[in-house]
Amino acid sequence: MSVAAEFVRAHQSRHLDELKDILRIPSISTDPARAKDVQRAAEWVEARLKRAGCTTSKIYPTSRHPIVYGEWLGAPGKPTILVYGHYDVQPAEPLDLWESPPFEPTIRDGKIYARGSVDDKGQLFLHVKALEAHLAVRGKLPVNVIVLAEGEEEVGSANLEHFIAANAKRLAADAVVISDSSMFAPGQPSILSSLRGLAYFEINVTGPTVDLHSGSYGGAVVNPATALARIIATFHEPNGHVAIPGFYDKVRDWGDDARTSIRKLTFDEHGFQHETGAPALGGEDGYSTLERIWTRPTCEVNGLLSGYTGEGAKTVLPSKAMAKVSCRLVPDQTPDEIGRLVEAHVRRVAPKGVTVSVEHLHGGHPWRAELNGPVFDAARRALAAAFGREPVIVGEGGSIPVVGDFQRILGTPVLLMGFGLPGENAHAPNEWMSDENFVVGAKAVAAFWDELSTSSRS
Ligand code: BES
Ligand code: MN
Ligand code: MN
Repeated sequence: MSVAAEFVRAHQSRHLDELKDILRIPSISTDPARAKDVQRAAEWVEARLKRAGCTTSKIYPTSRHPIVYGEWLGAPGKPTILVYGHYDVQPAEPLDLWESPPFEPTIRDGKIYARGSVDDKGQLFLHVKALEAHLAVRGKLPVNVIVLAEGEEEVGSANLEHFIAANAKRLAADAVVISDSSMFAPGQPSILSSLRGLAYFEINVTGPTVDLHSGSYGGAVVNPATALARIIATFHEPNGHVAIPGFYDKVRDWGDDARTSIRKLTFDEHGFQHETGAPALGGEDGYSTLERIWTRPTCEVNGLLSGYTGEGAKTVLPSKAMAKVSCRLVPDQTPDEIGRLVEAHVRRVAPKGVTVSVEHLHGGHPWRAELNGPVFDAARRALAAAFGREPVIVGEGGSIPVVGDFQRILGTPVLLMGFGLPGENAHAPNEWMSDENFVVGAKAVAAFWDELSTSSRS
C-alpha cells in the first residue's frame, strides 16, 4: 500500500467526520430559499481545498450558485488532471420516508445516510482527501491537479458551461476526472463509457378560464386533462418506440463491440426489478434492460397535474393540465433539436379547443467515450490495485450535462470513475454512500495520480 493510501486509511474517521459536516448543509440548488446554504457549502469546499494544500483556491460567484476552483500546479512536465464534482443536492422530499433526517448524516451498517452523500458530496470530497494525503505525506502531488466544484449540476449546469468557455486556457488539462456515478456491483470498480443527455419540457394545456361543473359543461367544452392525456399517448408506439417524427434520425448505431461487451456483463435482472418494486420490467422491444438504459433514447413523463385530486369526488372539468416531460438522449441527438421536434409534434397533435404551450427547461448533451490512452490505462491499474479486481466498462442512463461541455469546449477526454453502489437511493429518500467506498475511492484516486505520473514522460 502506498504512503498516501496508508494516510487515507489511518485518517478515515476524521475524514468521515469532515464529510458529515458538509452533508449537514442543505445545499438544494433548485430551491431559491436555500441559496444561502448553497453559498455556505461552496465556502466549505473552498476552505477544505485550501486546508488540503491547494496553492490557489477561489469562489467565483455566478448569476445563481458559485463555482469553486482550487489548484496545485507544482509538478512541471507532469500531466494535469481536472477534477470535477458538484456540491449541490436534490430536494429531500418526501421527508417522512427518511429513516434518519436527510441533513443529519448517520452511519448505519457501513452506509452514510444523508441527502448528497453519494450524489455528489462524498464522491467529490474523496478527491480532496487524496490531494490532502499526498501533500501531507510527501509535500507534493505526483501530477498537477485542478479542482472545479459547482453548485448547479442538479439544475443543469448553465453557468458552468460559460465559465469553462471563458476560462478554457486556465482549465487546460490532460483529462477531466469525475466521480459522480456508481459501480456496477459492490467491490466491482467501474469506468463509464457513456452518459445519456437530457431535454426537459413543461407542457401546459389550458381550456376554460376556471374549473367548470362537469355536468353543466362536460361534453361541450374540451377537457384539458383529456387533451393532455391524448397528447402524451402519442409519444410512444405500443412496442415502446418513441413515435415523435425524426426522434431517432440522429441516433448513431452503438456498434457490435459495445453490444457484445454489454452482453458479457452478468446483470441480475430479477434483482434489478426487485429493487424497483415494480411488478414487471418493460420498455422498447428488441433491447435488453441494460441496452434500454444505456444505449436507447427515451421520452418519459416525470409529472402530471390537473383537476381535482383531493379526498373523495368532485365533479369538475379542469381549466388546465400540466405535464413535466423529459427525453434522455444518446449520441448524436442534441437537446436543441429534440426540443424542436417535441414542440412541433405536440403542436401538431394538440386537440382543437385548448391552448398548448411547451416550455423548454434544461438540457444536456449525451456523451460517449473513447476508452484508450495513458489516462485510461492508469485508471484501470489504480482501480485494480485499490479494489483487488479489474474494472469493468459500463454505460449509464443518467446525465451529467457538463461532461459533454468539457469534451466539446476544452477538447479534453473525460474519465468517469464512480464509487456509488446499486441501490444507493440517489435523488430518493434514504440516500447513502458506502463508507468503505469513500475510503477505497480516495485510495484509488491517490494511486491513479501515481500511476499517471510514472507512466508519463516528464
Ligand atoms: N450524478 C448524477 C448523474 C448520474 C445519475 C450518474 C445516475 C450516474 C447514475 C447527476 O447528479 C444527476 O442527477 N444528473 C441529472 C441531470 C440534471 C440536469 C438534473 C439526471 O441525470 O437526471
Ligand atoms: Mn451527481
Ligand atoms: Mn444528481
